[in-house]
Amino acid sequence: MDATPALAPSGRRQHAYRDPLAEVDLDALDPALPWLPEELVSLAGLAEWRALDAPVRLRLAQLEFVALADLGLWLEAHLLRHLGRAAPKVRRVGAEAYAAQLAELREEAGHSLMFLELLRRSPGALPGDLPRPRLAAAFAARLGAWSGLFWGCVLIGETVATELNRRTRDAAGVPAVVRDIAGLHFADEVRHVAYARLRVADAFARRPHRLAGAVLRPLARQYIEACFYPPASLYAAAGAPDPRHLARAARANPARQALAATCLAPARRFLAGRGVAI
Ligand SMILES: [Fe+2]
Ligand SMILES: [Fe+2]
Repeated sequence: MDATPALAPSGRRQHAYRDPLAEVDLDALDPALPWLPEELVSLAGLAEWRALDAPVRLRLAQLEFVALADLGLWLEAHLLRHLGRAAPKVRRVGAEAYAAQLAELREEAGHSLMFLELLRRSPGALPGDLPRPRLAAAFAARLGAWSGLFWGCVLIGETVATELNRRTRDAAGVPAVVRDIAGLHFADEVRHVAYARLRVADAFARRPHRLAGAVLRPLARQYIEACFYPPASLYAAAGAPDPRHLARAARANPARQALAATCLAPARRFLAGRGVAI
């Protein structure tokens, strides 16, 4: 059952589309610089990080950035599927609603095209066992166009991505192209987060979901896991010694835990204001 929303799905005016492939010159990506600022690397602040050889640190900072793009590709594929599947229903709601969702679909497709280009320039193959927030995939496959749970899931993912993009966009020491990727994604996702908030607020106001917190909490945990805690195989791919120890060290890294909590905080606050504790 998927009731039509009481609110218009979007009050926003359409903005000029920015095509990432036209705007971001990925050929200028400098392989001699780290692609993630040091404070966003999983081992930041640890003795284990300082003990790594400089070439391993460089490769790890690049692979962690590429792994985030790979996670973005995975999430955007599920979002594209959901938006595509919902398109006929949204079309019936009206032109404004449909335009809003088409704009989001176009932007996500642009991000994914940009991420594919980045992956082609990866300093090495990503391991096949990177963790994925499986609940997000299940939500995208099964929940309706206006589902508060689905949009809550989008809100969590996009809020964390936005916070990471903001920090990357403003970082020193990374290639200008990396700041461009993060800056463009940030600008789009700020709008997407606003839209997801609208959808969540509307859905839960129309139909309060008693178990929303219980459902979204493990999803947030899976998402944090996927985003912030690489498996041992990623450290191995970077050429680091004792990768299993490094994966455990990242998990216990207080700076990492604080960053994850800070990036999730805006979504957590917003959902708490709707009676949903994650
Ligand atoms: Fe995106
Ligand atoms: Fe988005």
